[in-house]
Amino acid sequence: MASLTIRKLDDAIRDELRLRAARNGRSVEDEVRTILREASQPGGLPARHPDVLTDAAPRSRPEAATGQLRVTLIIGGGIAAYKALDLIRRLKERGSHVRVVLTRAATQFVTPLAASALANERCFTDLFDPQSEFDAGHIRLARECDLIVVAPATADLMAKMAGGHADDLATAILLAANRPILLAPAMNPLMWNNAATRRNVAQLKHDGVMMIGPNAGEMAEANEAGTGRMAEPTEIAIAAMALLRPPQPQTLAGKRVLITAGPTHEPIDPVRYIANRSSGKQGFAIAAAAAAAGAEVILVSGPVELKDPPGVVVKRVESARDMLAAVEAALPVDIAIFAAAVADWRVVSEGAQKLKKTGAALPPLVLTENPDILATISKRAGNRPPLVIGFAAETEHLIDNARAKIVRKGCDWIVANDVSPATGIMGGDSNTVHLLTRHGNEIAVDSWPPMGKDGVASALIKRVAEHFEKANS
Ligand code: C5P
Repeated sequence: MASLTIRKLDDAIRDELRLRAARNGRSVEDEVRTILREASQPGGLPARHPDVLTDAAPRSRPEAATGQLRVTLIIGGGIAAYKALDLIRRLKERGSHVRVVLTRAATQFVTPLAASALANERCFTDLFDPQSEFDAGHIRLARECDLIVVAPATADLMAKMAGGHADDLATAILLAANRPILLAPAMNPLMWNNAATRRNVAQLKHDGVMMIGPNAGEMAEANEAGTGRMAEPTEIAIAAMALLRPPQPQTLAGKRVLITAGPTHEPIDPVRYIANRSSGKQGFAIAAAAAAAGAEVILVSGPVELKDPPGVVVKRVESARDMLAAVEAALPVDIAIFAAAVADWRVVSEGAQKLKKTGAALPPLVLTENPDILATISKRAGNRPPLVIGFAAETEHLIDNARAKIVRKGCDWIVANDVSPATGIMGGDSNTVHLLTRHGNEIAVDSWPPMGKDGVASALIKRVAEHFEKANS
């Protein structure tokens, strides 16, 4: 068989070939042979082979499958490497998946074990480690992410990048990357100001590489100060997220939004309570979407396992009565969205001590109704929010029940969803909803396709913004 040449292929196809070869643990030539062999089989190649015949545009973002943004973090070998461990946490707390690569020099400052523990997965160090190349490979590490962050970016690493070197895993990734790259340079001020570094910085910027810092301040070396300190982990994480999620239109700027989320816990005695299965995910997603649209957001949440969304003031409460008090304390607001699954009942008299099995009669659990927060706020005489939105979680006659609820509760809109166990909505990540909006005596129903709870949140916030825009025009 004549020897294979891939030099004349266009760059995009060659890149994809290399990517596919790395994935399959073959040489590029072997990969081409495999493709040709497949093509010669009956049926041949599919019209558009997903791994090879793609165009030059970046492949679909890996986050699309999981909804999670991915950062490949390359830690360079400088004293600031210890701060890169904190950066892993700062990126993760902003919802990003982080895959860590350490240069050989970096392992002198931080251990792969520490980096792996913080990233929650093994980190990568060696270009010629058969395991790394088998299950990830430098090409995959370069491409299976939305952004590559280098922190600290040392003078040496930047020089190698500027010169196109690829003699270790980090530089091979950087050379093979077709994703945005953010560098956080860190070095001694004399190194930063050296003519060679200046040239390299200019070259890298010209090549489209982005940088954050370095900052001015004290150096690790005694009595030295100047420009060369690595940007703080939070600054780098914010810059990374801004690149990953370009700023959204601030459609709710100047608006104050109140949201309730999660279940409530209604105490029976000091150790027992009545609760429900609400995870709080939908309410938290709405709070995050409202904050991202520029609103001032107060989130009143029952007990849930979720972290505070960025830029949101979170008040954590236990019972329905606590929730009502926190909601009333937050007024006045422009928009109130009641996504909490408030317990309908509580016990009349909470036991001061843990109730005991007596062997005789069962303890009497006399229930009384909780305040209806949505109805109370919707029917308020003073400080009623101009737009009040409730949720209706139903297991049957969804739309009819939601229509009745919008009238009974006195709210303006209802987001109705079917929470029958088969739907997996309770505690799950996706939701199929119908938006009911009241216009005088008319109620319009808008059925949305199934989407993630983040998608429902964005769509709802978009509708809210449109509503206010229309009201103002
Ligand atoms: O009556 P139901 O619980 O189905 O109504 C659901 C809507 O009412 C949700 O928006 C929920 O947050 C709100 N609600 C409330 N206070 C209650 C019960 C429900 O705010 N005690």
